[in-house]
Amino acid sequence: MAEPLRIALAGLGTVGAGVIRLLETNSELIARRARRPIVVTAISARDRYKPRGVDLSGYAWEDDMVILAERPDVDVVVELVGGSDGPALACARTTFEAGKALVTANKAMIAHHGLELATRAEAAGVSLKFEAAVAGGIPVIKGLREGAAANAFERVYGILNGTCNYILSTMEDTGRDFASVLADAQRLGYAESDPSFDVDGIDAAHKLSILAAIAFGSRIDFGAVEVTGISQLRAADIAQADSLGYVIRLIGMAEPDFSEGACKLFQRVQPHLVPFDHPLAHVDGATNAVVAEGNFSGRLLFQGAGAGDGPTASAVVADLIDIARGEVASPFSVPVSDLETLPAATSGHRRGRAYIRFTVADRPGVLAELTAAMRDAGVSIESLIQKGAPEDGGPDGIGEVLVAMVTHEGPESGVTHAIELLSQSPSLTAPPLVMHILGK
Ligand SMILES: NC(=O)c1ccc[n+]([C@@H]2O[C@H](COP(=O)([O-])OP(=O)(O)OC[C@H]3O[C@@H](n4cnc5c(N)ncnc54)[C@H](OP(=O)(O)O)[C@@H]3O)[C@@H](O)[C@H]2O)c1
Repeated sequence: MAEPLRIALAGLGTVGAGVIRLLETNSELIARRARRPIVVTAISARDRYKPRGVDLSGYAWEDDMVILAERPDVDVVVELVGGSDGPALACARTTFEAGKALVTANKAMIAHHGLELATRAEAAGVSLKFEAAVAGGIPVIKGLREGAAANAFERVYGILNGTCNYILSTMEDTGRDFASVLADAQRLGYAESDPSFDVDGIDAAHKLSILAAIAFGSRIDFGAVEVTGISQLRAADIAQADSLGYVIRLIGMAEPDFSEGACKLFQRVQPHLVPFDHPLAHVDGATNAVVAEGNFSGRLLFQGAGAGDGPTASAVVADLIDIARGEVASPFSVPVSDLETLPAATSGHRRGRAYIRFTVADRPGVLAELTAAMRDAGVSIESLIQKGAPEDGGPDGIGEVLVAMVTHEGPESGVTHAIELLSQSPSLTAPPLVMHILGK
């Protein structure tokens, strides 16, 4: 058998320890498939003496992960630290300067610096691989880059954040409100103590921007993703959606937009109403799922665990096996210089149906005010539900009612205009919540 592939692990947390366990448990089958053993030679983290549930005694320790990347007994660096900049980025840059391959699970770093790192990898003639950065254990990057490589993609979308999906599906199952389900999710380890990256939609936006670059052959444009999180959602929204035949899911969606001639790219992360009969409506708990619509493959659905030590390690080690086999492919399918710069498409001219929830003062004439704004903005209402006061989550002591509307299909700009017309209204007790309805 050929010489072992020698790897250095930067980061020994959930994923790092999972990679060590996987390489130990499946060492023989990995060596057969990779056609050479994959061995850890050196490791680095913050705290050398922290117990990690794995035996680290056989590995050289480095306090500094930049020094780790420069070690002569290392062929590939696996960065499992996290953070878009800081030590993870310094380690990645050094890895390429040293002419070595890099595997990472770090979506934040790839979303912000992926093009720079891919350029460095190409110049060094080595691999940059990041399967674990999008949807954890689901091989969706490989699926798009390889299995479905012959297709032009019409749309890529999915449930890209397990924390949000756990919170939304638990709200749905229990009827409880966002804050109480989030607190439970934190206690159970499904949400971080600072959950903002997840619940504000940033993590899903990182992943979406990476997926979009691969699917559409475009330069990553994280800044162009329109992002709305889930923290505004109330138990009542889930109940209204249910009564109308939908569940609510945080959906990241990217699609090319030709409405103004030249191709632009639309990218949005937003809670959506998903019809009961759509495959994504049945994706519950911390599961992730990605739908890719290829012009010849049709709809492809990738579904599985989007996080966790085992699934994420599975994706990291799959990348290592590719490298051990000598496969060096462009990180984004095509060389960085061939990626297109697609301008950002705005949502204004998009057509669709929307759910709009208003919280309004409980007094006569308010409903007429809302419907007049809809009429003046040219928005046609398909259904309207008004619920009594006070609603859950609303400020105590204010007579407040919740009015939820579903619109007929029309331009999104109409809904935006209606909300602008109401923006100064003293009747509204909170900003309206708009969620789009996922088309079939
Ligand atoms: N967890 C998942 O399910 C999952 C899924 C997909 C992708 N990812 C990505 O995988 C990466 C790692 O995630 P994780 O969940 O394993 O994180 P984690 O459990 O917090 O582990 C992070 C590791 O990095 C080390 N570290 C942090 N800051 C450091 C610094 N300044 N200098 C040196 N070492 C430092 C920590 O050292 P100490 O242990 O000594 O503190 C720890 O070993 C992240 O990019 C994350 O987004 C995670």
